[in-house]
Amino acid sequence: MDDPLLWSSTDQERALRVIARWYDLDFGSMTDDVEMILELASGSERVLELGVGSGRIAASLARAGHQVTGVDSSEAMLESGAQRLRESGVNVVRADIRCLKLDERFELVFFGLSTFQHLLRREDQLAALGSARAHLADEGRLVIDWTAPRPDDLDPAPRALQVEWMRASDDGRWVTKQAMQEFALVRDCGCALDRSSAVAWITYQYDAVGDSGSVHRSLARFPLRVNLSVGEMAGLLTQAGLRPVEWFGSWDLDQPGEGDRLIVVAVEAEGAA
Ligand SMILES: C[S@@+](CC[C@H](N)C(=O)[O-])C[C@H]1O[C@@H](n2cnc3c(N)ncnc32)[C@H](O)[C@@H]1O
Repeated sequence: MDDPLLWSSTDQERALRVIARWYDLDFGSMTDDVEMILELASGSERVLELGVGSGRIAASLARAGHQVTGVDSSEAMLESGAQRLRESGVNVVRADIRCLKLDERFELVFFGLSTFQHLLRREDQLAALGSARAHLADEGRLVIDWTAPRPDDLDPAPRALQVEWMRASDDGRWVTKQAMQEFALVRDCGCALDRSSAVAWITYQYDAVGDSGSVHRSLARFPLRVNLSVGEMAGLLTQAGLRPVEWFGSWDLDQPGEGDRLIVVAVEAEGAA
C-alpha cells in the first residue's frame, strides 16, 4: 500500500502490535520529555493524556501525585503497559481521541511524543483538538509535543534503513532496531489536507537474535504527518477555538528553532464558539 490515506485502524493496530513488543526497549529509558511534562503539569490536579500508549509518561505523572486519565485506541499498546498503568493508578480509557467524551474536565490535557502526528488529515487534527478542548477545565492548558520540521521531510529521494540502536532485551536476546522515513505521495483525495505532501512512511525493523544465532525479524510500517510548522499548528489551534500562549523548541524548553522538537501550550480562546 502506498497511499497513506488508505491506512485503516486495522493496519494501525497491526503495526502497533509489532512496535508495542519493543516499545519499552526503544523508548522506556527516554526521560527528558517525561521531565518536561512533569514540569508543565505542576499545579494541575487532573491530567489527561491523549494517546497514552504504554503509559511511559502517564505513570510518572500518577506517581508524582496527579490524577491521571490516559486514552488510547490501541489494544496492543495498552496491553504492553497494563501492569505499569494499573500499578501507578492511571485511569485507562480505550477510545479514539478524535471523538472522546468523558464526564470529567482536566487542568492539563496533552499529546505526548508525536502522538499528534498520527493524525493525518486536517479533519482528524481538528477533531482531536476539539476533544482536547472539550475536556479542559476552566483555565486548563493543552500541551502538544511533536517533531519539528526537518530539511529532508519532503525529499522524495529513496532512503535506506539505518541502525538506530542495538540493545539487550528483557529475555536476553540482542535486538537491533533500524528505521527509515520515506516521503509519501498522497493522491488527490478530495479531503482536507492542509499540506497534502507532508506525510511520511515510517519503517521500524527489529531483529532479535537468540542463543542459537537465529534472527527473528519484525517489521512495522506506518504513516506519520511530518513537516508540521509553528504556523500550521497556530492555524489549527485557532480554528479549534484554542489560543497558543507559549512555544518551545526542545524538551529543555528552549526557544523554537533551538532543538528538534516543537511544543505548544494553548488555552481555550476567549469567546470561541
Ligand atoms: C508515539 S505513541 C506515544 C505513546 C506515549 N504517549 C509515549 O509518549 O510513550 C502514539 C500513541 O497514540 C495512539 N494513537 C494514535 N492515534 C490515535 C487515535 N486516533 N486515538 C487514540 N489513540 C491514538 C497510538 O495507539 C499510540 O499508542
